[in-house]
Amino acid sequence: MRIYKDLHDYLNELEQLNLVTYIQEELSPVLEIPALIVEAVRKGLGTLLFENVKGYPGWKVVGNLFGDWRYIKLLFGENPEDIGKRILDLLKVPYGGFIEKLSLLKDVTRLSKYLPKETRSKSYKVEYVGDEVNLNIIPVFKTWPGDAGKFFTYPLVISRDPEHKIYNIGVYRIQVIGRNEALMHWQAHKRGSITEKIYREKGLTEFPVAVAIGGDPILLFSGACPIPRGIDEYLFAGLLRGEGIKVFKSDYSGLYIPAYAEAVLEGYIDLTDYRLEGPFGDHMGYYTPQEYYPVFRVERILLRRDPIYYGTVVGKPPMEDGYIGKAIERIFLPFLKMIFPEIVDINLPIHGLFHGLAVVSIKKRYPGHAKKVMLGLWGLGQFSLNKILIVVDSDVDVHDLNQVVYAISSTVDPKRDVVIIPYTHTDALDHTVSTPLIGSKMGIDATRKYREELGREWPKEIEGYPDDVMRKIEDIVSRLRK
Ligand SMILES: Cc1cc2nc3c(=O)[nH]c(=O)nc-3n(C[C@H](O)[C@H](O)[C@H](O)COP(=O)(O)O)c2cc1C
Repeated sequence: MRIYKDLHDYLNELEQLNLVTYIQEELSPVLEIPALIVEAVRKGLGTLLFENVKGYPGWKVVGNLFGDWRYIKLLFGENPEDIGKRILDLLKVPYGGFIEKLSLLKDVTRLSKYLPKETRSKSYKVEYVGDEVNLNIIPVFKTWPGDAGKFFTYPLVISRDPEHKIYNIGVYRIQVIGRNEALMHWQAHKRGSITEKIYREKGLTEFPVAVAIGGDPILLFSGACPIPRGIDEYLFAGLLRGEGIKVFKSDYSGLYIPAYAEAVLEGYIDLTDYRLEGPFGDHMGYYTPQEYYPVFRVERILLRRDPIYYGTVVGKPPMEDGYIGKAIERIFLPFLKMIFPEIVDINLPIHGLFHGLAVVSIKKRYPGHAKKVMLGLWGLGQFSLNKILIVVDSDVDVHDLNQVVYAISSTVDPKRDVVIIPYTHTDALDHTVSTPLIGSKMGIDATRKYREELGREWPKEIEGYPDDVMRKIEDIVSRLRK
């Protein structure tokens, strides 16, 4: 796995691999560039580098950095699950006697490699402060015709929990509403929004936030990862990357900021000013209705001299974020298996809208086991936003939806095996519910049933033909093929 310094470094590598298409035509970030990015994802055209951005001389725009499995393999290897396993191994802490303590010391030293590294050098050469601040100098996209305006679609929003001083880096869209004003769309269940609530509970009226645009691909990716609140996201990004993220301490906000992004917006969240955000064409393929979100007041912009703006387009799948979601599914599987050792595999199909629909296979060991897994997963971090969960036996390949459908049809008695949780929290984007944030869940236990569950023996499944019969048949088939 190569470690990239920044977006430019990564693009050089993509260029060498023939994965970049240069677009010389003058195109606008309002609808035109986004429309071509959508085509690039849908038609597998790879990364696009827009060299002539209408109205933004000095800027380039890049699109589709993660939009198919080639990129995921390049960044995380043939089997991204191994990265999750590597991180888990690093986090394993021995305990007990003297020898174990020595080994713990070694482990802590080993971990230090992944901590953020403070550096004096940084990529930013241009600074706008106070009245000079103008978000309109950045080629922010209007992605769909019905969007309320321009939105940063892949910003890395950096904030710090006031209680534990732990950093969160989240990808939350930001709507530009003025030269130095924007709306921060962190949804109710996300870490950024929880940080906002903690500041409010403390009676404060503002808190600092920095937003990085672009950066090395792993840092970008980690912003979309569902990291539990107790874990610092700079550390997690370093673990994922194989080396600590280079940061510097902002003399404006005191926050640590990535040293090698393309641009940084610094300012504060104004807890006294909430305005209607949206509409915005979102992951579910619909425009999200307007909701109130806090104002982000931008007081300083830092820029590279040769900045590249990275934005994505979300909408009805498949889109670029679907592949990001798939990589997250693979990397986090070892973590799920640690909490639920019975889990064998998981599939969040791209058309199931991230956590909208999930299929989990388990090594079933007792009656009611599938429902226990449902209840556990529905209580777990961002997995708790899952709406439809299908649990199958370990011999079902969760990635083969025909096998999943067969498992449902051949094992489910709906009255017994379908679980509905009538009122609980739901994804802020879920437009199917009558009250925002409140919805139901459905679990389908598509595992074979124990006697205690069925009330009688589970029937004998048709087995294969005996070996001697098969040998004879295969011989005939091979001759038929000739
Ligand atoms: C392209 C893209 C856009 C996203 N936009 C938003 C958004 O506007 N609001 C939001 O809360 N989450 C959004 N997400 C999802 C979060 O980035 C994701 O849930 C992440 O894990 C943040 O979690 P955290 O708040 O726990 O750190 C987006 C993800 C992607 C890949």
